Amino acid sequence: MLEKYLDTPIECADKVTETLYKVKARIANTESRRAKKMLDKTIPLFEKHEFWSTQPVMRVYEPIGQINQPVENKKLEDISVEGLPLIEGYHWTTINMDDQAEKDELYDLLSNHYVEDDGGNFRFDYSREFLKWALTPPGYKKEWLVGVRGGKKNKLYGFISGIPVKIMTHGQQTVMAEINFLCVHKQLRSFRLAPVLIREITRRVNLKDIWQAIYTSGTTLMTPFGSAVYYHRNLNP
Ligand SMILES: CC(C)(COP(=O)(O)OP(=O)(O)OC[C@H]1O[C@@H](n2cnc3c(N)ncnc32)[C@H](O)[C@@H]1OP(=O)(O)O)[C@@H](O)C(=O)NCCC(=O)NCCS
Repeated sequence: MLEKYLDTPIECADKVTETLYKVKARIANTESRRAKKMLDKTIPLFEKHEFWSTQPVMRVYEPIGQINQPVENKKLEDISVEGLPLIEGYHWTTINMDDQAEKDELYDLLSNHYVEDDGGNFRFDYSREFLKWALTPPGYKKEWLVGVRGGKKNKLYGFISGIPVKIMTHGQQTVMAEINFLCVHKQLRSFRLAPVLIREITRRVNLKDIWQAIYTSGTTLMTPFGSAVYYHRNLNP
């Protein structure tokens, strides 16, 4: 289905979105699970997004420009040295993975609020040791382990991480940030905290003169260049 729209001019994106929603409504009461899934993956690529439509990422219907060129040109002096404002009662923190109490707090946030299946029956349970390994590779930046605290108990309510990685694209090596473990406590969902976390980690990465990042997502965001199917084996259920 997607291939049909790949050469769609930008000005037609709204029309495509409208059409896809109409198709979705039409098949809503049918058994075609595969078609529904395809639509759910395709619609986000064409519709407008309050946050992602403002970001320097490719749109699926845009012609590919020059390969290995920046989408936008920013300089260090364009980047604010101040953290982004947060909703009242919350503030930024960095998680020190060498501190047992902070490592425990991150483990608690992720084991209770990180990625789960649609029914909420299964959730990733990354161990403290795994998290420490994943978040503190050689050359890691402690200020890229970004948390949001708040409330009466100054609890950890949000997290996002970056680690520096060397990525090859078309034979060119670039130091980028690998973004991972984006998580917002279930009580703070849908308050637009995720875009603030993403903007804040972007700012901190930019302050290190790094301008590209790579990330994966279970939901369709603009614009995937690869996808993978992965399987889980439950250990010690
Ligand atoms: C992903 C998560 C942080 C989003 O938080 P939320 O409270 O649902 O969403 P918010 O109201 O803060 O923000 C919504 C915006 O974030 C974007 N967003 C949602 N999930 C995202 C993701 N995984 N990566 C990047 N952006 C994401 C949405 O597209 C939306 O932006 P848009 O309006 O431009 O489309 C939250 O649902 C969560 O912690 N889920 C469990 C863990 C998880 O799935 N993490 C992501 C792993 S890839």
